[in-house]
Amino acid sequence: MRIFLKQIMPIFNDLNLKNWKESDIWTDSLWMISERDKSGKHSNFYHGNFVPQIPQQFILRYTKKNDVVFDPFVGSGTTAYEAESLKRNFIGVDIQKSLINKIKKNLDYKNNFSELLNGDSANENIFKQIKEILKKYKKKNIQLAILHSPYADIIKFSNHKEDLSNAKSLKEFLSKFAQVLENTISVLEKSKYLIIVIGDKYAKGQWIPLGFYCMNEAQKLGLTLKSIIIKNMEGNRAKKNKEAIWRYRALSSDYYIFKHEYILVFKN
Ligand SMILES: C[S@@+](CC[C@H](N)C(=O)[O-])C[C@H]1O[C@@H](n2cnc3c(N)ncnc32)[C@H](O)[C@@H]1O
Repeated sequence: MRIFLKQIMPIFNDLNLKNWKESDIWTDSLWMISERDKSGKHSNFYHGNFVPQIPQQFILRYTKKNDVVFDPFVGSGTTAYEAESLKRNFIGVDIQKSLINKIKKNLDYKNNFSELLNGDSANENIFKQIKEILKKYKKKNIQLAILHSPYADIIKFSNHKEDLSNAKSLKEFLSKFAQVLENTISVLEKSKYLIIVIGDKYAKGQWIPLGFYCMNEAQKLGLTLKSIIIKNMEGNRAKKNKEAIWRYRALSSDYYIFKHEYILVFKN
C-alpha cells in the first residue's frame, strides 16, 4: 500500500501524504466557509475581496515553498499575504496604483521575493515585465495562478477604461478575460494550476452564467478542468442583516438571491 501511495503521490506540493489524515486540505467540491480568516495582515477593508482561505488552500495543495504564485487581479492583496506567510514568491498586478502601493508597504518578504505591478493584465506589455522579473530571480515560470477578476460590472472597481468591470458588454468582458488568461498561461509552468474565482449576475431579469462563460474561455485555451467548486456567499456585506428585505424583493421581482460563487480549478 505504501508503494502504491508513493506512486500516485503528487510532487507539486510539500504535503506529507503519510500524514494525510491530519492535513487540512479541502477535497470536497462544496465549500461552506462560515467565517473569513482574519489572522495576519488580512484587514477586510476592500469591498470585493475574497476570503484568505481560498488562496491558502490552493497554495498549500498546488505549490511548494519557494514556488512562484501569481495574481493578475491582486485587489487588496489577499493572495499576496497568504503567499508571504506560506513562504512562496509572489507576483501581482492590479489596475489601481493606490492598491499596489498599499500592499507594497505591508509586505515584508524575507527569503522570498514579491513584485507588485500596476497595469492592465490583459495587456501583453505587463507580461514582458513579468518575464523580466522571473529572469531576474532565475525562475523560468510561475507555478500557480489565482484569478479573481471583477464579476463583469457587478462592482465597479475604478474609472480606468481597461478595468474589466468597465467592459461595455458581456462580449468585451469575456474577450478581455480571455486575454488575461492567455497572458497568464504564457508564464504558467506546464502541468501546474490555474484557479478562477467568479460569480454569476443578473441583467434585464435574466441570469447570466458568467462562471460557465469564463470556464468555457479557459477550456478554449486548452486548460484541463479539474473541478468546479461551489462556494457559499454567506458573508456578502451588501446583504448582511437584510435577508428579509432581499427575500421579499426576490419573491416580488421574480429572481433568486445569489448564495454561491464558483472556484474553477484548471491544470495547464
Ligand atoms: C474582485 S477584485 C480582486 C480582489 C482580491 N482577490 C482581494 O482579495 O482583494 C478584482 C480586482 O481586479 C482589478 N482589475 C480590474 N481590471 C483589471 C485589469 N485589466 N488588470 C489588472 N487588474 C484589474 C480591480 O482593480 C480589482 O482590484
